[in-house]
Amino acid sequence: MSPNEVRPIDAQHAQHAQLAATVQALFTHGKGLLAMDESSGTCNRRFASAGIPPTLDMRCAYRAWLLGTPELGSCISGVILCDETIHQATAAGAPLVQLARSAGLLVGIKVDTGAKALAAHPGDTVTEGLDGLRERLQAYAELGARFAKWRGVFSVHEARLPSAACIAANAHALARYAALCQEAGLVPIIEPEVLMVGAHTLARCQATTEAVLRSVFEQLVQQSVRLEALVLKPNMVIAGLAAATQDTDDEVADATLQCLLRVVPAAVPGIAFLSGGQSGKLASSRLNALHLRPRTPWPLTFSFARALQHPAMERWAGKEANIRAAQQALMHRARCNCTALHGEYSPAMEAR
Ligand code: 13P
Repeated sequence: MSPNEVRPIDAQHAQHAQLAATVQALFTHGKGLLAMDESSGTCNRRFASAGIPPTLDMRCAYRAWLLGTPELGSCISGVILCDETIHQATAAGAPLVQLARSAGLLVGIKVDTGAKALAAHPGDTVTEGLDGLRERLQAYAELGARFAKWRGVFSVHEARLPSAACIAANAHALARYAALCQEAGLVPIIEPEVLMVGAHTLARCQATTEAVLRSVFEQLVQQSVRLEALVLKPNMVIAGLAAATQDTDDEVADATLQCLLRVVPAAVPGIAFLSGGQSGKLASSRLNALHLRPRTPWPLTFSFARALQHPAMERWAGKEANIRAAQQALMHRARCNCTALHGEYSPAMEAR
């Protein structure tokens, strides 16, 4: 069917039902998402700092054992892959998508092509990838993807917040991406990330996050995106990594919830936080604090990359003999985060 034709009512209902089923499966109570969609460049940089050779084969081996982690599906509902991984197979010929599905995980795909310098606004970026997206989404759906992800990036500068132009351009792109995803039957994960880089206060992060989310939801509505069929993946509201004061878990949870409650419509079916460079332990304890507050209109979970993967990658160090221990390290972080979803995480869980 051409995108300009009006979809028959039955087909529209079937598509809404499929999107709803995907959201429901992603938010299966007590589970979260594993983001493993780093671009080759980012993955190589992380490999290099863990002493792992930055090669295509190593990236494939790494992602294959992540997906093969015993019991991963007891904590994780879906995995976000990148273009390289969704097309990849192990040396023994097993497609990585198949490994994910055998583990009971829904497959998601990162479809943006990265944040690029925004002309006329030094220091700000706009995320690209809309050209040809309709065709790419269809191809990913045929490969088994059920959901997608697009990340807009916002920096809090020393002297100013991200420009209005940066916020508008990224919100517009996120909404156009989301509409195309829903048309293709994929649930869009909308990831507007206010970076932790810098020395800004929690209050400045909160002001930026609120302005960004407000603009994103205005654009989503303007572009007729169905709010019931998307997932929001925001940052927690946190001071910059170099800030003089780091706030308590309770302060982070209060500021994050105040911000989200002000701007995220109750129709949104779920929120899955990114970790943004927090340590695994801090991400778990802040996620826990968020679950000790009064119930929110949306379920809250995690969609972490670094806070889940980092200790496991270090443990692996590129050596076959370390895979079992590395998988245990991954499961440990996954279980800590699942426990946090019940408000039952405590630092004592880390003493292993
Ligand atoms: P982090 O959890 O490391 O912030 O990554 C989330 C993500 O999806 C990266 O694009």
